[in-house]
Amino acid sequence: MNDDINQLERFLDQGANQIIQLFITVLIIGGTMLFVAPKIALFAFFPIPIIFLGSIKFQRKLAPKYRDVRNKAGLLASRLNNNLSGILTIKSFTKEKWELNRLNKESLDYQRSNKAAIKLSSAFIPLIRFAILFAFIAILLIGGFQTWNKTLDVGTYSFLVFITQRLLWPLTTLGHVLDDFQRSMASIDRVIDLIDTPIKIKDGKIKIEVKDIKGEIIFNNVNFNYPGRDLTLKNINFKIENNSTLGIVGLTGSGKSTIIKLLLRIYDSNNGLITLDGVSIKEINLRDLRKCISLVSQETYLFHGSVQENIAYGSINPSLKDIVKASKIAEAHKFIEQLPDGYKTIVGERGQRLSGGQRQRIALARAVLKDAPILILDEATASVDNETEALIQKSLSKITKERTTIVIAHRLSTIKNADNIVVIDKGKIVESGKHEKLLDQNKIYADLWNVQVGI
Ligand SMILES: Nc1ncnc2c1ncn2[C@@H]1O[C@H](COP(=O)(O)OP(=O)(O)OP(=O)(O)O)[C@@H](O)[C@H]1O
Ligand SMILES: [Mg+2]
Repeated sequence: MNDDINQLERFLDQGANQIIQLFITVLIIGGTMLFVAPKIALFAFFPIPIIFLGSIKFQRKLAPKYRDVRNKAGLLASRLNNNLSGILTIKSFTKEKWELNRLNKESLDYQRSNKAAIKLSSAFIPLIRFAILFAFIAILLIGGFQTWNKTLDVGTYSFLVFITQRLLWPLTTLGHVLDDFQRSMASIDRVIDLIDTPIKIKDGKIKIEVKDIKGEIIFNNVNFNYPGRDLTLKNINFKIENNSTLGIVGLTGSGKSTIIKLLLRIYDSNNGLITLDGVSIKEINLRDLRKCISLVSQETYLFHGSVQENIAYGSINPSLKDIVKASKIAEAHKFIEQLPDGYKTIVGERGQRLSGGQRQRIALARAVLKDAPILILDEATASVDNETEALIQKSLSKITKERTTIVIAHRLSTIKNADNIVVIDKGKIVESGKHEKLLDQNKIYADLWNVQVGI
């Protein structure tokens, strides 16, 4: 996309300017010629329709070629981007050579499709020059004969020769300008395609105030599938009373994180109803809905910037005191203080200068600081050690009492104390109840628990 915009910039920077100059040249000099020697002037205009007809014809043939060039450039750029962010994997699997070959191949593809386009466009520019040369010679000859026969003044003839050059030679640049224009059109198409991509999630009309939200969440017969996949969630029903905690357990890939994505309306459910305080979330203003939810997602993401900026990310101008308080709840304060610049330490792109567990605790502090009526912890403590996790649990217990909380965890000790636990298996809720009840049932949950406590 960046490259497409650059292409457009190149055209607007020079091409657009040249077109304006050409237009004014043709207008003024062409007008003067028509005035001085109308019959001869017609020859000067002869190349202009050829140039336009030619460019329309070439445009049709060139457009798909230039589109292909832009697509290949896009592929190459995204490959580079992917390689840079996956550098640790590439190095650890010693795939440098293999990646280099792949990159080379894509680079050659780009070169090849550019060659094909240039082959065609380079036939276009000589065509224009040829038409211009023809007009030029015609004016020289016809004007020359007329002067010979004394039907044209010598003075007028020399003026014509001089002015024809002023008119026609600038026209030769038109070939390049039109070529640039066609390249830009391919770029514009791609940009517009993206802008025109319909936004599937429609915003709701009901405005809500975060402070008025109690946090009762109901999933009623919710079904969902990702595009082109089988049903991921089947007939999901549960209710979370306000200020209570729901634990979600299930094997990997069973659909736990998907439930969260539906609640946040990253995707919409196929059918069924999800409500917040009795109102369908599809009716609620999207920003308002998301303001009500503090999420620590499974893949923690930190932005390039300081620790403090990252924690403050979801809140409006929080004080340092509040930031420290949230960090203490997330058991992050101690390690942050030990970083070289404390809260001002830069975390690097995606937080790569911190450890996995440190990143996770900063993400947790960020969610705690947001102080929303609904808190969602999707494997939020999976990367920290057991001891730290127990400390986090303890400090979180106070704030989870005051809000609706959803906790997803493989480590069952994390959700043991939840008010209700649902067990998901292949997209279906197969068990639900409190920890003790589920143990008594002696089914999936009990099996998972026994494995973890080592029975
Ligand atoms: N964006 C997506 N497009 C298509 N399929 C997806 C997408 N995200 C997840 N899935 C599929 O949906 C299923 C449920 O994924 P989900 O992330 O909800 O699992 P999970 O229960 O959170 O697993 P885990 O414990 O590993 O986090 C998986 O089979 C997964 O392959
Ligand atoms: Mg998940």
